[in-house]
Amino acid sequence: MKSIKVGVCGVGNVGGAVLETLTNSPKIIENNGGVKINIIQVGARKGKSAVPFDLNVTTDLMDVANNPEVEVLIELIGGCDLAKDLVEKAIRNGKHIVTANKALIATHGDELFELAKEHNVQIGFEASVAGGTPVIKALREGLVANKVNWFAGILNGTTNFILSKMSEDQSSFENALKEAQDLGLAEADPTMDVDGTDAAQKASILSALAFNTPHNFELVSYGGIESVSPEDIAYASDLGYSIKHIAYGSIEENEVCVSAYPTLVSNDQLLSQVGMQMNALEIYCEGLGSTVYYGPGAGPKPTASAVIADIVDLSNGGWPVSDKNESKNCLSKESQQGFSRYFNLNIKNEAGAIAKVSSLFADRNISIEALIQNEPKANQTDLTHVPVVIISGPLTDEKAFEVSKDLESIEETTQSIKQFRIHNAL
Ligand code: HSE
Repeated sequence: MKSIKVGVCGVGNVGGAVLETLTNSPKIIENNGGVKINIIQVGARKGKSAVPFDLNVTTDLMDVANNPEVEVLIELIGGCDLAKDLVEKAIRNGKHIVTANKALIATHGDELFELAKEHNVQIGFEASVAGGTPVIKALREGLVANKVNWFAGILNGTTNFILSKMSEDQSSFENALKEAQDLGLAEADPTMDVDGTDAAQKASILSALAFNTPHNFELVSYGGIESVSPEDIAYASDLGYSIKHIAYGSIEENEVCVSAYPTLVSNDQLLSQVGMQMNALEIYCEGLGSTVYYGPGAGPKPTASAVIADIVDLSNGGWPVSDKNESKNCLSKESQQGFSRYFNLNIKNEAGAIAKVSSLFADRNISIEALIQNEPKANQTDLTHVPVVIISGPLTDEKAFEVSKDLESIEETTQSIKQFRIHNAL
């Protein structure tokens, strides 16, 4: 049987799971993948005490990048500083890379892939998007014969877990986040999950593969789930929607838009059924139509599964190298895509207020598809303002932002208008 020699840098949740699988279940990998994976060295900044296996441990991660025996460096330390130096050093030393680091690929992917090409080595990054669900493999191999028109995905397990818990168990945001952290789903700093950064980085990586765009995370627009309240979830549910954090990528002519925002998804769409920490990605290709990939996208075991799959692929010669770089498409922050919208506003509890708000929509030729104002309860008749929810026809992000500002500027409303996209069946 062939063998491959690896060095593992980082022994946190994911690194620990990789070491455990390689040490405790090598037979499954040998039987399925036809390769014996030998761990030559482990880089653990905390030293041997952090590694519960009898392995060669160094506290200086660069030792792994410089170890002449190591054929593949597995980068699982995260972040962009030391990780980038380490990966560059290993590439210059002729080693392949496997990484779960979406920040690194989304931010420095182009230069790292270029460097890898110069040194005739490859970078595996299946674990950087959707963890154990092989979406990178689907995009660069399974769908290689197709032109991708768009993708829509739930790419962050932590936020999907939080939104599911808030919706199904009426958990508070804080309790649901704590539970996600205890399960090892969240980033070291969960701000990156909650504010949408993590999903946006993953969407940026998918865009490079799907649409041949540069890795330029700065041109991805995104927002987080902090603004989603239990009331929004209840209104959405009454209207037949779930609230999910959805990452989009689409191409028109040669212009690509990538974004990730909290979004209402109609209950008859597959993505609305994706609960707890699960990820899902729908990819629409010309001619082929939609294919959907569903599975665990966060947590030690699913991520380790993707890391090991990349090592096995490298032992079989890696991945096809394309010439796509020659003709990159442009990324644009201004999406021209229209989405129906959910607006949540507080309006004055007086005659004519709804008429004023609806005339603002009519004046802009925007259709109101649904409007909810619940009758105040018997003990609430002296309320100065009452909540109103409006579902509008399709608007671009720019137009929706303008409408929110205009609504805030009239005296019948308070200055706290919330607006979310609605996932249309594209
Ligand atoms: N923190 C991420 C998530 C997992 O919750 O999906 C790693 O990308």
